[in-house]
Amino acid sequence: MRLVLLGAPGSGKGTQGQRLSQLLKVPEISTGNILRAAVAAKTPLGRAAKTVMDAGQLVSDEIMLGVLRERLMKADARKGFILDGFPRNLAQAEALDELLGQIGQPIDLALVINVDTDWLLQRMVGRRSCRSCGAVYNIYTAPPKMDDRCDECGGRLRQRADDTEETIGNRLRIYETQTAPVITRYQEQDKLRSVQGVGSVDDVFKAVRKIIEDEKRTARPVDRSATIRNAVARRKTDAESTARSTKQAKAGKKAAAKKKTVIKNKSAAKKATAKKKTAKKKTAKQKITASSKAVSRKKAVKRKVVKKKVVKKKVVKKKARKKKKKKKKKKKKKKKKKK
Ligand code: AP5
Repeated sequence: MRLVLLGAPGSGKGTQGQRLSQLLKVPEISTGNILRAAVAAKTPLGRAAKTVMDAGQLVSDEIMLGVLRERLMKADARKGFILDGFPRNLAQAEALDELLGQIGQPIDLALVINVDTDWLLQRMVGRRSCRSCGAVYNIYTAPPKMDDRCDECGGRLRQRADDTEETIGNRLRIYETQTAPVITRYQEQDKLRSVQGVGSVDDVFKAVRKIIEDEKRTARPVDRSATIRNAVARRKTDAESTARSTKQAKAGKKAAAKKKTVIKNKSAAKKATAKKKTAKKKTAKQKITASSKAVSRKKAVKRKVVKKKVVKKKVVKKKARKKKKKKKKKKKKKKKKKK
């Protein structure tokens, strides 16, 4: 069964929703709980929602639709669900109809829990919830056995940040102006049932249970072709989303490989250029060395030649000097002989 729980803040949607979840064996999807978990975990969603929630305002429809879509995609929601806290305004109601219409699984029933404002105030101010398991108590109407301790798990109890008198006032105003039109919408669709939410939790649940059982009894026999159509539609959506994610994954891989190749090619080109540069430098160096060697060889040869010439000149000069001396001696001898 696909059920929407409606009612003012503190009317008992969460309390009855949990019991119904056990009865119908479908998950209770509380958008308030999803947001509070995100706030506690300090996720981007939690950071975006915290101030809005603390002020008792509504988180944006865009964010909430994303949150809901993601949650409804989980396997446990396939056989049905109980929505607590969604839709909160007409835009959300229309978007929900569209989303569920696409998979051929419309809402079966919308149940509104009616409680007078005086009671609501006392319920919210007195509410305490367990930090560990989320169990909900009320210090006036359903107190824990031990002060500030959870009966279920012994965890610490705390008061919700939006359960202050000022914020409660804002939440009630928003309920009157924005959520009340959603009730009219379900009434027009002939899906609305209502229950008195005052009395013990058990008494209220008895009344809720009766409505659900009556609804099941009077519900049209299951249209097998509709079931098949729904299954096909869901499989199609699943297949499309799988195909989409596979395509995205493939495209991602391809892009990564391309990037890798480009980087590889670039580094190879860089290496080759560097190699070329080194080779060029080496050749230039070799050339310089060779030419300087040739120059010094030539210089050495030149020096040798010059040296040889000098030596030769010296020898010639020496010989000339010797000859001169000899001539002088001969002349002297001749002179002596003449005398
Ligand atoms: P949400 O968590 O949905 O808060 P709410 O709608 O204000 O409802 P509550 O959780 O306060 O009350 P309830 O009806 O579940 O009552 P409960 O069973 O706990 O949203 C919180 C915030 O989140 C919003 O203000 C908004 O900012 C944001 N948000 C959530 N959904 C959004 C959306 N779709 N779009 C945009 N923003 C969104 O009972 C209350 C107390 O009463 C308890 O202590 C309980 O023990 C006691 N009690 C219950 N039944 C009885 C009884 N029969 N007799 C005596 N006591 C009872």
